[in-house]
Amino acid sequence: MAQKIVIKGDVVSSESLTELRTIENGYICIDDGRIAYVGDALPSDYADAELKDFSGMMIMQSFCDMHLHAPQYPMVGLGMDLPLVDWLDKYAYPLEGEFKDTEYAEGVYRRLAKDLIMHGTTRVSIFSSLHTDATLVLMQELENAGVTGYVGKVNMDRNNMPGVLEETTEESEAETLRWLKECERFKYIKPILTPRFTPSCTDELMAFLGDLSKEKKLPVQSHISENLSEIEWVKQLRPECKEYWDTYNDSGLWHDRTLMAHCVYSSDRERKAMRDYGVTAVHCCNSNTNIESGIMPLRKMIDEGIKVTLGSDIAGGDTLNVFEVVSDTVKTSKVRNVYDSWESSHVNEKEAWYLATSAASEWFDSKPGFAAGNMLHAIVLDDSELMRKTLSVEERFYRCFYKRQQNAIRSVWSEGREVYSYR
Ligand code: GUN
Ligand code: FE
Repeated sequence: MAQKIVIKGDVVSSESLTELRTIENGYICIDDGRIAYVGDALPSDYADAELKDFSGMMIMQSFCDMHLHAPQYPMVGLGMDLPLVDWLDKYAYPLEGEFKDTEYAEGVYRRLAKDLIMHGTTRVSIFSSLHTDATLVLMQELENAGVTGYVGKVNMDRNNMPGVLEETTEESEAETLRWLKECERFKYIKPILTPRFTPSCTDELMAFLGDLSKEKKLPVQSHISENLSEIEWVKQLRPECKEYWDTYNDSGLWHDRTLMAHCVYSSDRERKAMRDYGVTAVHCCNSNTNIESGIMPLRKMIDEGIKVTLGSDIAGGDTLNVFEVVSDTVKTSKVRNVYDSWESSHVNEKEAWYLATSAASEWFDSKPGFAAGNMLHAIVLDDSELMRKTLSVEERFYRCFYKRQQNAIRSVWSEGREVYSYR
């Protein structure tokens, strides 16, 4: 018999970019983890179901972090003094090289997986390092902690770090195939092809990955147009390509199951290609500020109809707490608007939260919001200590991205299971 559970509290969900749904004293009913009902009255067929009573707390959708680098987790907050390419060489690559040691990887990845869950992130798309075995460890640790989503073994057969972080084209291809075979054992974590970025991948490797994506219907994640020197470098490496995106498109890596981080300097033509091909942009404002890349024209890209989601981009980004990523997205959007002479409007909290939740739903075979049929992905947020006067659920929602009490997250649900609780 199906396990029926009722969760009670102030329900907050993002139906679309512009529509926030709030239900004070609402109910979410789940059947074997799948949402069957959301509303303000308890249906009679759930009267005898197990009740999880979070009255007075907010039950919100949990976060999707669509771009972060797991092996960079130990360097969060360190090495923010250099722009992208120097930053990779001096800090990121030497640290990623450490992940040839799977025992070291296990310690780091266990912590990362727990921290993701404790901060209410239940769905992800993550870069591992080029090491197959450490990548499998990452997938296992995420699965054990209750995180769902995608992990990629990184491919990088040129401009890497000899003796520290390197693979030949042949190794990269063979290891990708070995990794894909091993991935079949995971239930909640799926593989995503991960050419690091064009400067890291030969044409041969890109073509191999493009063919693999087509043949096995595998999604793709990479970086694009993050930094001006990087874009110049790509021009030198691929002079036959008109723009950065052509380097991915030429190899069959540019399609509606592609996630591209950054897009800070994407041209009109590149942005149009994102929209026309259904490529998803992952906006990583913390990283873009920390390593002085720039500020993506978020409002413009949304208005143009490009699919946009958010990423922490650990460790260019300094926080995996997506509450902070949401408020930083709003702040950087305001800065961009000021420097664009107020020609448009900034993205607000409701919109940024949509980008961090429902905007990614198609990546996880779900519908926006707490739609019936979705597996439950939720956070229970206690803000009772912050009450000074009566606030609406909507006001409390706007506040939570800036101010939260200690241990505010009281319960986290991932794929219909309670994976964290603080009672
Ligand atoms: N471009 C290629 N690799 C990386 C990385 O690790 N971080 C960021 N921010 N950009 C990249
Ligand atoms: Fe990145």
